[in-house]
Amino acid sequence: MFKSITRFDAFPKIDKNMQKSTGLGGLLTLLVAFGLFFLVLTEFGQYIHIAQKYEFLVDRTAGESTVSINADLTIAMACDNLRIDVLDVAGSSIHAKANDFSKTPVKFHTVGLVPVGERKSKSKLDVHRIVAEAQRKHREHADLKGPLDACRIKGHINVNKVAGMFHITALGHGYLDSKHVAHEVLTSNAPAMNFTHRVDKLSFGIDYPGLVNPLDSSLEIADGNFEMFQYFMSIVPTIYVDKRRTFGSVVLTNQYAVTDYKKIVGHETREAGIPGIFMKYEIEPIVVRVTESRASFMHFLTRLCGITGGIYVTVGLMNNLIQFFMNIYEKYSK
Ligand SMILES: *[C@@H]1O[C@H](CO)[C@@H](O)[C@H](O)[C@H]1NC(C)=O
Repeated sequence: MFKSITRFDAFPKIDKNMQKSTGLGGLLTLLVAFGLFFLVLTEFGQYIHIAQKYEFLVDRTAGESTVSINADLTIAMACDNLRIDVLDVAGSSIHAKANDFSKTPVKFHTVGLVPVGERKSKSKLDVHRIVAEAQRKHREHADLKGPLDACRIKGHINVNKVAGMFHITALGHGYLDSKHVAHEVLTSNAPAMNFTHRVDKLSFGIDYPGLVNPLDSSLEIADGNFEMFQYFMSIVPTIYVDKRRTFGSVVLTNQYAVTDYKKIVGHETREAGIPGIFMKYEIEPIVVRVTESRASFMHFLTRLCGITGGIYVTVGLMNNLIQFFMNIYEKYSK
């Protein structure tokens, strides 16, 4: 049995006496060893490196599905004086229903906010971390004890997946209401009009409590009673795929970029506008897919074999070629 298998031996064995070691061969072997060492090193580096691939796809679901706005904001005003509205370019205006957002009287405080300058830089995007964050539980900011001078608005609302606006205004300012909030008079504990606000959470789409969005933990202070805060947001649907995990490795989310302006409106400054918080959002018609993956071990092995074998054969050929020319040279120089 074993003997019959020896017939298939593809590796020729040449008798030691028939082989000749040359100086050239030795030199080339050293070179090969060096070359191999560096190549294997770079190859290993690439194997360890985790690649991030970006793909831009047209969002085929645009306009036919809905997106939810998840909010947790605290405004330094009494809940009774506030109204929340959502409008979109499709023309539907939704006066946010009572059950979409809960309004709770709380004490206004700035504990737990991160100063804008000290925010974690998101420049180094790490899909692995994002996917892990998305699955993490979020620590809610606690309400402090004290006079209930603010209103915490919390909840989510489903809106058409088109551009739209999310407004928080005082009753009787901007919309027709039976009530007209006085400008400066104190009602109970809260000033009638003070749009100072903290944003604890503002995200679009599936709510991943652990994921930090640009506006999370931010604070805006109103310098006047008639202050208008405007946010312009560009929403980019994003899919993160972490191939290193097998379970729950895809996160469907919406990143957004935001610019904000504030101005005091009314008679004092002769600026046009309505006091309140106005968030205008646009949804980009593309989807970004960020995939994180590492080459498989088999792939790495295959490449290693390829490199080793390739170099061995190539240098062997070179050796033969040089030897060939050297033989010719020797023949004719005699
Ligand atoms: C509104 O409330 C905040 C926080 O309580 C305060 O710092 C700010 O001065 C107030 N603004 C006005 C115009 O009263």
